[in-house]
Amino acid sequence: MEEINKALKAIKKGVKDPAKNADGVKLAETAEKAAIACKDMKPAMLDKTPEAKKAEVVAGYKKAMDGAIAELGKLKQQLKDGKNEDAAETLKKLKELEDDGHEKYNP
Ligand code: HEM
Repeated sequence: MEEINKALKAIKKGVKDPAKNADGVKLAETAEKAAIACKDMKPAMLDKTPEAKKAEVVAGYKKAMDGAIAELGKLKQQLKDGKNEDAAETLKKLKELEDDGHEKYNP
């Protein structure tokens, strides 16, 4: 998570500057890989989740992480293609997914 955060902050700084796109692509790839690793981790709140609800919570968590992974892949491609305005929109979408994910799984 920390790695995703660092990469996205760095991308945000340079998203208006096409000269930074090559760096942005690498950072997006790093974030994407970190998110794939996070998908296989269990959220800490699971310890306090009733046994009968655990499977549902894990499935929801993985699905939410899949959404973030898909957006990170999109971000990488947009930076590769020099579509900086689209990339800026994707960053906003990622912020929403982060807020939703944290509301549900890191309250
Ligand atoms: C995509 C942008 C996201 C960013 C930048 C981000 C960033 C962070 C950061 C900085 C932390 C605190 C450090 C840590 O515990 O490692 C954290 C924790 C956490 N995030 Fe995210 N996050 C994102 C998306 C998500 C999504 C989509 C979910 C849910 C599927 C999620 C679930 C969690 C959980 C559960 C924790 C607490 C860690 C734990 O329970 O072990 N995050 N996140």
